[in-house]
Amino acid sequence: ELSPIDKAKFVAARRAADYVEDGMRVGLGTGSTAAWLVRCLGEMVREDGLRFRGVPTSTRTAELAREVGIEVIGLDEAKWLDVTIDGADEFDPELNLIKGGGGALLQEKIVATASDQMIVIADAAKEVSNLGHFPLPVEVVPFGWRTTQALIEESLVAMDVLGRDMTLRMAGDRPFVTDEGNHILDLHLGRIGNPRQMAMVLNQIPGVVESGLFIDICDMVIVGHGDGRVEVRD
Ligand code: A5P
Repeated sequence: ELSPIDKAKFVAARRAADYVEDGMRVGLGTGSTAAWLVRCLGEMVREDGLRFRGVPTSTRTAELAREVGIEVIGLDEAKWLDVTIDGADEFDPELNLIKGGGGALLQEKIVATASDQMIVIADAAKEVSNLGHFPLPVEVVPFGWRTTQALIEESLVAMDVLGRDMTLRMAGDRPFVTDEGNHILDLHLGRIGNPRQMAMVLNQIPGVVESGLFIDICDMVIVGHGDGRVEVRD
């Protein structure tokens, strides 16, 4: 018997799996919700003979996909994807997202952007009227990261952003390292008034690789509830 939160993630993932058809190239997201999707798709491969190729967005997802019997290829081999299905940390009414709680935002954004369609699967707790309660992950290169942090802070001041607390994400007593060898700064903003502007300003800073703001990338959110109900936002 699944807990309500796992049930919510599972029913959203199960519904999203219906969008995968024979012959497709599919981006596979990262995180606990995306893991449900990968397991669902693996079952469809093994039991229903579904044939598709998956492009994972992290080493974690690649391992799980292979384990459940999905044919895994790289993004450059796939060139372009039919659909990417991934989780999110927050989504707003415009279907803009915060991602990167699991640290895979860079590959996730590259893969989602190279797809005809991005479908997000989420439990209902991820729906917000304004992004920013969840700390915004910003991937920065290790070289000069403190200087990059200072530049981010200056940009936030220039945008009149009040919540400017940021923390270097840690893994034990060392800085967390992404699949691309970078670090992550988590920005505790509270509320992001203008996500589009925030995303553009952050991307102007040389030491910033990408932020976890996904603007105009997601086409549909499948929301799962603990009682098994599923809603679609598009
Ligand atoms: C991974 O880097 C993130 O973008 C995840 O997609 C996000 O953190 C959602 O994870 P859960 O499905 O575990 O909440």
